[in-house]
Amino acid sequence: MVLTTTNPAPKQFVESSTFASRYVRQPLPRFQMPETSMPKEAAYQVITDELMLDGNPRLNLASFVTTWMEPECDKLMMASINKNYVDMDEYPVTTELQNRCVNMIANLFNAPIGSGEAAVGVGTVGSSEAIMLAGLAFKRKWQQKMKSQGKPYDKPNIVTGANVQVCWEKFARYFEVELKEVKLKEGYYVMDPVKAVEMVDENTICVAAILGSTLTGEFENVKLLNELLTKKNKETGWDTPIHVDAASGGFIAPFVYPKIEWDFRLPLVKSINVSGHKYGLVYAGIGWVVWRSKEDLPDDLVFHINYLGSDQPTFTLNFSKGKIFMHTSIQRSHP
Ligand SMILES: Cc1ncc(COP(=O)(O)O)c(C=O)c1O
Repeated sequence: MVLTTTNPAPKQFVESSTFASRYVRQPLPRFQMPETSMPKEAAYQVITDELMLDGNPRLNLASFVTTWMEPECDKLMMASINKNYVDMDEYPVTTELQNRCVNMIANLFNAPIGSGEAAVGVGTVGSSEAIMLAGLAFKRKWQQKMKSQGKPYDKPNIVTGANVQVCWEKFARYFEVELKEVKLKEGYYVMDPVKAVEMVDENTICVAAILGSTLTGEFENVKLLNELLTKKNKETGWDTPIHVDAASGGFIAPFVYPKIEWDFRLPLVKSINVSGHKYGLVYAGIGWVVWRSKEDLPDDLVFHINYLGSDQPTFTLNFSKGKIFMHTSIQRSHP
């Protein structure tokens, strides 16, 4: 969520509540708990009146998410809205449906899954969360490797194009990884694989390529990146992997350009994220990250919870909602 700009100083009361005036005789405080309660109908009307000032989602064609879904989806959502779906024991079918999605996506992206084997991945609130998790897995794997070789592991870096979406900067800052950006040049607005591989060093936890650059939709050349990096890995003895940020292209490439090799067909691609809500007819709040194999997700990042009797392995971040008073910290604003 964005940071708050709500200023509590000027207006202390909800000024007008057009249709609730028959209930609301006293001014309603905006930032304090009211002294007395109010009828639920009044609360509903006051909030509905305020929400009228939001835009009309059906007319919002400017941002990445779409705001209309089939009525059957609305029905399914409303039928499940009271389920605490993180409780996998109580709601195993919901968990099973999520697992099926992960498997379908891993197969779509050509993960090398043996028959009877399950894919490795999680559902998230979108690609931003997915990228935090993927980045964390790379960082932890790299640290484990450096530790086992008795080398310093306090200066990890990640190589991306300067066209990366702001969530990569957030990952770098929150998880203390240096972001090494390949500069763009006039007429070429994605990461140049040659320059990216030049920037790789022993502390590089991964190179992140984008399939569907946020600004132009252009695909980066992951195949060439894989070739160049394989060569460099051979020369140096490193094993720098690739992550593909397929937030905006992961559900286009397999259907429209099936011959382009960008996914797990390339051996160095160890994880891929994709958004569910960028392609139409899906409400905001869904994405996934899938890993090539179990070996690519360090086991000590997976929490095994068994409060309710059975083992519930999880690898998630719980994203907070709401705004914070601050204007300065995240300055670049992609849509
Ligand atoms: C390339 C890319 N990566 C990541 C994201 C973040 O995606 P989400 O909104 O699903 O968190 C976006 C969103 O625009 C994007 O275009």
